[in-house]
Amino acid sequence: MFNLEKIVRPNVLKMKAYSSARDEFKGAASVFIDANENNLGSLAGDNYNRYPDPHQKKLKASIAEIKGVRPSQIFLGNGSDEAIDLLFRMVCRPGQDSMLHLPPTYGMYEVSANLNEVKLDAVQLTVDYQVPVQEVLEQVKPTTKLIFICTPNNPTGNSIERESIETILLSFEGLVVLDEAYIDFANSPSWISRLDEFPNLVVLQTFSKAWGMAGLRLGMAYASEEVISLMDKIKPPYNINQATQELALKSLQQTEQLAYMVEEIVQEREMLVQALPTLKTVEKVYPSDANFLLVKVKDANGLYNYLLEKGIVVRNRSGLPGCEGCLRISVGTTEENQQLFQAMANFSI
Ligand SMILES: Cc1ncc(COP(=O)(O)O)c(C=O)c1O
Repeated sequence: MFNLEKIVRPNVLKMKAYSSARDEFKGAASVFIDANENNLGSLAGDNYNRYPDPHQKKLKASIAEIKGVRPSQIFLGNGSDEAIDLLFRMVCRPGQDSMLHLPPTYGMYEVSANLNEVKLDAVQLTVDYQVPVQEVLEQVKPTTKLIFICTPNNPTGNSIERESIETILLSFEGLVVLDEAYIDFANSPSWISRLDEFPNLVVLQTFSKAWGMAGLRLGMAYASEEVISLMDKIKPPYNINQATQELALKSLQQTEQLAYMVEEIVQEREMLVQALPTLKTVEKVYPSDANFLLVKVKDANGLYNYLLEKGIVVRNRSGLPGCEGCLRISVGTTEENQQLFQAMANFSI
């Protein structure tokens, strides 16, 4: 049985959150001289001389409405990378605890584990980039606090089978973190609709991909109220800046435009899925539920450098075990994709 108190670091359970000036005062006032701000104004514009809402109430209410969850089930981070790091700091005792991830996958799970001195267990995805569930469960130790599953997975692009995820959620007594950074490009529904069923489920999403706001740094973790209040307790108080809160609120009013962009990116992706295998340098295009394609080519390093010479930067993943010979290519604009296709067509090995 999952017991949150059993897996949270004792110091995190015991500690008190930082209490900000605006936490300590509630009510109406006209003179705010409680937070050592610059009351003359800001060189950046209106409002920016004030600290932002540390609880991001308006933003959470708006996200909750769109996503069909309760505001108390949402944590907002300075990118989902911040949520990843906080999850480690919430449950993993440095030098003692461990996490499990499934390479080839997103690199920040490993970086955060190393930064936090958390032992890293890795179970390689199968040849079709699925989760070998039995192997994962066999690798779980009493010190395993977190399992990271990325779906759709970066850099392979595929979604992870739902039965595998459900089995792990039901069998593992730590937190199962599903990273859904690319979920908006997939046909399968998000796991956030299952939060109430699984107290050990944490779902990560981001504004960096489909929403097109990578520069603003806004990521979400969805989980039980208990998990979210612990994450809120240990976060830096003003982790989401005022500009990001304002611009994200504005963008949340434009869900039609979001759907339009997603549709266009998915269409362009499918064009590339059709077109790329006709090139003699391409050996395989892996199926993708994301906004990028993993493409196996005959000479990955040669093609990578050739594309660079043409001013086109892709991600060379050929050195990653499980991705030998592969480049990861983000879907660009129609024009960029045509440019990529032409350049690849002209590459001779
Ligand atoms: C799987 C995955 N998770 C998380 C992130 C980071 O997202 P954010 O920009 O919200 O920190 C990325 C970015 O590439 C990603 O690929």
